[in-house]
Amino acid sequence: MNASDTPFRLEGKVVLVTGASRGIGKAIAVEAAEAGAEGIVLAARRPEALEAARDGIAALGSAVECVVADMTDEEAAEAMVARAVDRFGRVDVLVNNVGGAPFKVPLPDIRADGWRKTIELNLTSVFLASRAVMRNWRSAPGGTGRNIVTVGSSASFHGRPALSAYVSGKHALVGLTKTLARELAPSGARANLVAPHLVETDLTAAQQQREFRDRSIAQIPMGRWAEAKEVARVVRFLASDAASYVTGMSLLVDGGHES
Ligand SMILES: NC(=O)c1ccc[n+]([C@@H]2O[C@H](COP(=O)([O-])OP(=O)(O)OC[C@H]3O[C@@H](n4cnc5c(N)ncnc54)[C@H](OP(=O)(O)O)[C@@H]3O)[C@@H](O)[C@H]2O)c1
Repeated sequence: MNASDTPFRLEGKVVLVTGASRGIGKAIAVEAAEAGAEGIVLAARRPEALEAARDGIAALGSAVECVVADMTDEEAAEAMVARAVDRFGRVDVLVNNVGGAPFKVPLPDIRADGWRKTIELNLTSVFLASRAVMRNWRSAPGGTGRNIVTVGSSASFHGRPALSAYVSGKHALVGLTKTLARELAPSGARANLVAPHLVETDLTAAQQQREFRDRSIAQIPMGRWAEAKEVARVVRFLASDAASYVTGMSLLVDGGHES
């Protein structure tokens, strides 16, 4: 069965994806378009990459709006949601995808500003976008079908040497997701987290030396890294009404690494 034939449809939904200009975020936006989303909002910092992503996604039939925004910036997060609401009247699904590990440094050598920036990128960004969307939802009641999907990591569940700030931010997203689930449940809205292990994208390009790949692949029962679309399909399931009774959950997409 082709992925676009699955029952996990997003027709009539407006989907906002942060960090959507490349990698997993772009794959999620493509998947949302293939699932029939009515409108898709793509957010990232660099306009050229966003515009390039827009062209491919719009060709799949969804209306697309690009928003240049730094997701660690409070005002930018509020303005992003306001733009989405101006264009489409609402946001039904927020995908918090922005994140990353800007450096690999043992804890005694981490500078405090580097720690703070990594926490801002991986945790505060999710707080800010979720708050902006939830404020809008509070002002426009009618929750069923609304949901938030956050992209965590296998580092949401395991320590990694020299990645303490990234790991701490990604672990915190599990608790944030559980709390959002409980705050949203009375309105019928949901919140879940998808936790990939290693995925073929620009973020991991620097790591793609043979030695690292061979070592990492030896630990993955399926013997390969994920493709971004394999993560995007899980986001699509959680975002769709097929997951209408799934909330507060973290779903590993790791080729059996945890097993
Ligand atoms: N790749 C992996 O192996 C892997 C594994 C586990 C988890 N993850 C998680 O998956 C998510 C996506 O990773 P990826 O590999 O797809 O990353 P990526 O290829 O580096 O793409 C990151 C995206 O986010 C945007 N972005 C970065 N910082 C931003 C900011 N401050 N504000 C707004 N947009 C920003 C980038 O565009 P601009 O630079 O133009 O802003 C880009 O669109 C992250 O949360 C990451 O931790 C990835």
